[in-house]
Amino acid sequence: MTERPNVTAPWWSSATVYQIYPRSFRDSNGDGIGDLAGIIEKLDHLVTLGVDAMWVSPFFASPQQDFGYDVSDYCDVAAEYGTLHDAQLLIDEAHRRGLRVLFDLVLNHTSDQHPWFTESRSSRDNQRADWYLWRDGRGADGRRRPNNWRSVAEITSAWQWCEQRRQWYLATFMPCQPDLNWRHPEVREAMFDAVRFWLERGVDGFRLDMFGDVMKDPTFANVGLRPHVATGLPRLFDRSTVQNTEDNVQLARDLRSVCREYDGVGSPVGAGPRSADRERVLIGELFGPAAELRRFSADGDGLQLVFLFDFLTMHYDADWLRDRIIEFERAFPEPAQPTYVLENHDRTRLLDRVGGDLRKARVMATVLLTLRGVPTLYQGQELAQSNTYIPLRDAQDPIVRTHLPWLPEAVNRRLPERLNRDEVRTPMQWNSSPNAGFTDPAATPWLPTNADRGTANVADQDRDPDSMLTLYRSLLRQRRAHPALHSGRLDLAPGAPAGTLAWVRSTGDEQILVAANLTDRSVQVPTGTANAELLVATAADVTIDDAATPAVHLGPQCAAVVLLSPAP
Ligand code: NOJ
Ligand code: CA
Repeated sequence: MTERPNVTAPWWSSATVYQIYPRSFRDSNGDGIGDLAGIIEKLDHLVTLGVDAMWVSPFFASPQQDFGYDVSDYCDVAAEYGTLHDAQLLIDEAHRRGLRVLFDLVLNHTSDQHPWFTESRSSRDNQRADWYLWRDGRGADGRRRPNNWRSVAEITSAWQWCEQRRQWYLATFMPCQPDLNWRHPEVREAMFDAVRFWLERGVDGFRLDMFGDVMKDPTFANVGLRPHVATGLPRLFDRSTVQNTEDNVQLARDLRSVCREYDGVGSPVGAGPRSADRERVLIGELFGPAAELRRFSADGDGLQLVFLFDFLTMHYDADWLRDRIIEFERAFPEPAQPTYVLENHDRTRLLDRVGGDLRKARVMATVLLTLRGVPTLYQGQELAQSNTYIPLRDAQDPIVRTHLPWLPEAVNRRLPERLNRDEVRTPMQWNSSPNAGFTDPAATPWLPTNADRGTANVADQDRDPDSMLTLYRSLLRQRRAHPALHSGRLDLAPGAPAGTLAWVRSTGDEQILVAANLTDRSVQVPTGTANAELLVATAADVTIDDAATPAVHLGPQCAAVVLLSPAP
């Protein structure tokens, strides 16, 4: 693996991250459920792809009501995914290949089957009675909810009744996921110890689930009404008093201190000068405007990275994308890094978002991997896997079963966002066989494979120079090879025609132009030099012209990455 020249910046600042959803990545023992041994089997796919780090969604002990985001033991592995030994092997085998490993930390809530909650709910005066957020109800019988807080989906209240205690407990996500009381010193220590448990085993950092919600408003005051749209979803309430508060920013700093205990500790990752860099990284799942989220990583303290989810619900429109890029550049100026994401395990796949048009998905892959910042890919994105239609009645996703069992299927199909997250969690497609090489041919995968496995699979795309996989590999190779692309500044290029995005990435001695044509007509983007070299093109109809006005010519819906060299 090529080592990058810039060894002074921490490893994560020029990294690319690949998200693995373990249940759907690779099943090694034929039970239809992906597992840790399966991930280890496929690590070389990540190496060939050219990513630097993997973020593994939760595989900890869990009753799997929210497929791992409901943890019942933070320091153990769910039997269906493997053992602690497998988790250690995953870390070590990844490190041996030069890959960093991020695990997924669910801090806001546990499973309602976590022994902590079982004890907490048993009475009002047990050892862990205050480890969760219990409140008396209002009204003579206490059966009226303590306040008007809604769960994240906003369809139901966030308060759940417990007959044993005759009290309400808070569950911001779903009833089976009670919120921890992070103002309790013993809760903080128990959770920080779980963090240390994995840091000691060598993980390079964590993705932090629902991080902006962890610390609650201690006054428990009602929230006000403020109809608005956030990350593509309609919202009724103003969450500014309960989300992304200063207390949550402080928690980011505290968590970072825990990680700092381990910075520099542990065996090297791969070979080369960067192998000595053992800074542990924290990436927050946070929702809100970039300027608000920047607080979580200000002054080099707190989280190093926060997901900026606007691209997850992007508009395929040059003006819209340019406005977001300007906003992110302003909110996360160097040396801070924006964190771009087009797909994850919760939202519509990119190909579906761009109307099934592969040309557009190729343009967006180029945008993602050439912007300044840390890009995150979701398994299967490199193949342009699409959503798999699964009707609500067949949903395994608890969001559907808990909040939306009444929704007519016809309405569901017309919604711009997928409510049943199963549709984006179907197995990774390794080949074109009926089970897509995810599990044994005779096994039944936990979710069906997609019909697009005939073309959207690793084996076939590996050999095809025009495939999406080949494009992702080329983009990642160029990104790693060119300092301008992985750690240079970004300046929007003047003179780009309407409907086109163009920017220049540069370091002291290297300049690279990225031009993306999001229209149905051909365009020209000036290169300003007669000495330009095409590094990557998403289609054959890209040419470079070194005539009187040097330019890159782009056919409809395509993008190019061009090395600009000074005239000889
Ligand atoms: C966000 C995760 O991405 C999602 O999959 C999960 O269901 C919720 N947090 C609850 O932990
Ligand atoms: Ca399995």
